Amino acid sequence: MKSTEKRLPSFREVSNTIQRVDGWLTEHEARYLYSLAQYGPGQGAIVEIGSWKGKSTILLAAGSKSAGREKVHAVDHHKGGPDQAGLGYQDVNTEIDFRKNIKSAGIEDQVIPLVMTSTRAAQGWSGPIRLLWIDGDHSYEAVKTDLLLWEPHVVEGGVIAFHDTYAWEGPRRVVEEYLLRSNRFSILGFVDSITAVKKTQRRSPWDKIRKKIILLIRYLYILGRQHILPGEIRKWSKSCLRVMASAR
Ligand SMILES: C[S@@+](CC[C@H](N)C(=O)[O-])C[C@H]1O[C@@H](n2cnc3c(N)ncnc32)[C@H](O)[C@@H]1O
Repeated sequence: MKSTEKRLPSFREVSNTIQRVDGWLTEHEARYLYSLAQYGPGQGAIVEIGSWKGKSTILLAAGSKSAGREKVHAVDHHKGGPDQAGLGYQDVNTEIDFRKNIKSAGIEDQVIPLVMTSTRAAQGWSGPIRLLWIDGDHSYEAVKTDLLLWEPHVVEGGVIAFHDTYAWEGPRRVVEEYLLRSNRFSILGFVDSITAVKKTQRRSPWDKIRKKIILLIRYLYILGRQHILPGEIRKWSKSCLRVMASAR
């Protein structure tokens, strides 16, 4: 490699960087986002709804950059929301930290910040999206709006991934009602609290059955998480979900 060439960010390097960035992703989720951005199907932009201080933005941008792929359009008004207020963050403005973190991660050139609401950004959007990552306002109406406004731009074969799809009612219900019960999406992965689907017209009869089984196991998993069913059921159902997601 020539000394003037920039080295591309490996997951290990990014993983060290993001440890210093405030956020809510687990190690498995971080790795999954990086790999979706690096190797995920389709062609088009990556759009992130909800950046906070840039943790997921850095992972998506670094993954995509490492493969010479598309930029990340990071949509956030940076004012936080009721979810963050509930966690003790009142009257926040995360834009300065966001920009600082993106810069110090060395992926500023791979990120296009859209400092506005998701609705406004969607109104001005045109162009194909290959990866839509939804982690903004977690209320049911807001998550539903994010999906309905942005999903039409996702290319056939592209990916939609949601965060917090068990403990938070908004993302959980939207995933169940609009993705798992729809025949326009096939399951791609369950990684900790992330649910990812692929937009596809081509479905096998097995895909339909698989989704029904997944809905049932997912229900058991949620009851396990809520301590309504024993912890063993929670562990068992979590493993089953992983197996079912990869059984194509
Ligand atoms: C859970 S945080 C995002 C966390 C981030 N993905 C990470 O990995 O660190 C949710 C973010 O959504 C943003 N947000 C809330 N409502 C929004 C809206 N209507 N439009 C755009 N961003 C919004 C908040 O400002 C907040 O930064």
